[in-house]
Amino acid sequence: MSDAVLSESRRRRTFAIISHPDAGKTTLTEKFLLYAGALNEAGAVHARAGRRAATSDWMEMEQKRGISITSTALSFEFRGHQLNLLDTPGHRDFSEDTYRVLAAVDAVVMVLDSAKGIEPQTLKLFEVCRSRNLPVITFLNKYDRPGREPLELLDEIESQIGLRPTPATWPVGISGDFRGVVDRRTGEFTRFTRTTRGSAIAPEELVDPEQAAAEEGRAWGHAMDEIGLLDAVEAHVDMPSFLAGESTPVFVGSALTNFGVRHLLDAVIDLAPAPPPQVDLEGAERPLEVDCSAFVFKVQANMDRSHRDRIAFVRICSGRFERGMVLTCERTGKPFATKYASTVFGAERSTVEEAFPGDVVGLVNATGLNIGDTLWESTQVEFPPIPRFAPEVFATARPLDTGKVKQFRKGLAQLDEEGVVQVLRDPQMGDAAPILAAVGQLQFDVFADRLDVEFNAPSEILSAPYDAIRFTDESSSKRLREIGGIRILQRGDGRLVALFESRYRLQRLENDEPELVLDHIIAG
Ligand code: G4P
Repeated sequence: MSDAVLSESRRRRTFAIISHPDAGKTTLTEKFLLYAGALNEAGAVHARAGRRAATSDWMEMEQKRGISITSTALSFEFRGHQLNLLDTPGHRDFSEDTYRVLAAVDAVVMVLDSAKGIEPQTLKLFEVCRSRNLPVITFLNKYDRPGREPLELLDEIESQIGLRPTPATWPVGISGDFRGVVDRRTGEFTRFTRTTRGSAIAPEELVDPEQAAAEEGRAWGHAMDEIGLLDAVEAHVDMPSFLAGESTPVFVGSALTNFGVRHLLDAVIDLAPAPPPQVDLEGAERPLEVDCSAFVFKVQANMDRSHRDRIAFVRICSGRFERGMVLTCERTGKPFATKYASTVFGAERSTVEEAFPGDVVGLVNATGLNIGDTLWESTQVEFPPIPRFAPEVFATARPLDTGKVKQFRKGLAQLDEEGVVQVLRDPQMGDAAPILAAVGQLQFDVFADRLDVEFNAPSEILSAPYDAIRFTDESSSKRLREIGGIRILQRGDGRLVALFESRYRLQRLENDEPELVLDHIIAG
């Protein structure tokens, strides 16, 4: 049995794609499925999304905004491996859920639009990857159209995010006239041919360097010159530093025309790590082959209004998960029967019978399970909590109906605990005038909707004029309270935070009164 668990986990790769909106994440996902034979024709992911039935308000909200709120895990087979691709919703209006997904993956593909380079959202998501030392594979996308010089993009990766780029493939032909890629490890040239709208796998032709030099002329010479420069600075793919999150293998391609997609997919298998043993709260590794354990990284409630259902998405960390098994929730000590376990693809669910380390399972009817909870089968374990992230938007909340204050408070407590938003309270005022904090406006909308639907407490959420937040402590907060434009509040976990109306004032304070405790909230 334990051999089966080990061999199943060895053939898994659990990863996410991070990118700024429009860099090509959806297109690339679709092309991965196309190459894996999981889609007959590219375009199906979009088409499928369009056909989705509005089965709940979540779906209505998703459709209204044209975004995916329901993070999903796609599983597909490629070269005898199972790839679990976790969705990080790529909309500008993203939420803490986006970040939390990164707690459940072992590697990341960072997609950059090669005309744009590193963009703000890529940067934010990358910071989360860095805090976990996640290995990052970089894909310079859209090379089929005019863009920036790839060498310049490498410089940007290094200078802006401090990750050492090590190109694994290098383009032949300038952006806009993209002919193929050289595999720097083998020296082989792969020439691509476009298919109509990239709906089928791009035919590839392996060409030896001599023939490539004769046929590609100046484009080949130019690529060789650049590769010479890369060789000179020893920018070679280096596994130890990649796995430590210090260097990034770079691939060049075009998701639209399928150029370079197979190389990238190969890299996910050949370079990205298989699920490693998960480290528990005490810092000990939980061996993969022992009994089943998992942690909850996302909770989705109210997906179907008529059922009041609640799905907890768990990542399996050890052992074999079998539908129907009873797991213990470490936080509450209560048993949880996994009678309804499913994978979720958009609005569609299918039942999961078994799963192995690295897999994501959606546990239906998961009342009583919260984000960060550990579940175990027979040997007790507790995994570290999922970090909360620095909020960037703030709002005030109050019940619209003064007769519903009790329901409002109950909802506030529950939704805070679930991590839908962070509720900050004034120690002197309690629940009377809480400030909601989130990484994206979307979280407030979800919060208001759930207060209304599940707790029957319609609320008014108004944007609050804060610009920055820091952790502080009792003694610093005394001084901070004397200054205008700052509020001292308490998080659900008891920690004190200072909210600043002006970032400028915060900076001045940091300079003028360095003795004050004003710590960044990176992963609190
Ligand atoms: P996202 O999920 O990261 O937001 O990006 P998405 O894949 O939706 O791609 C955004 C736009 O960029 C799409 O164009 C898509 O076709 C285009 N795109 C993606 N990859 C490539 C590429 O390699 N080369 C080129 N030239 N374009 C690419 P759109 O006009 O917004 O949509 P549509 O034409 O697909 O309907």
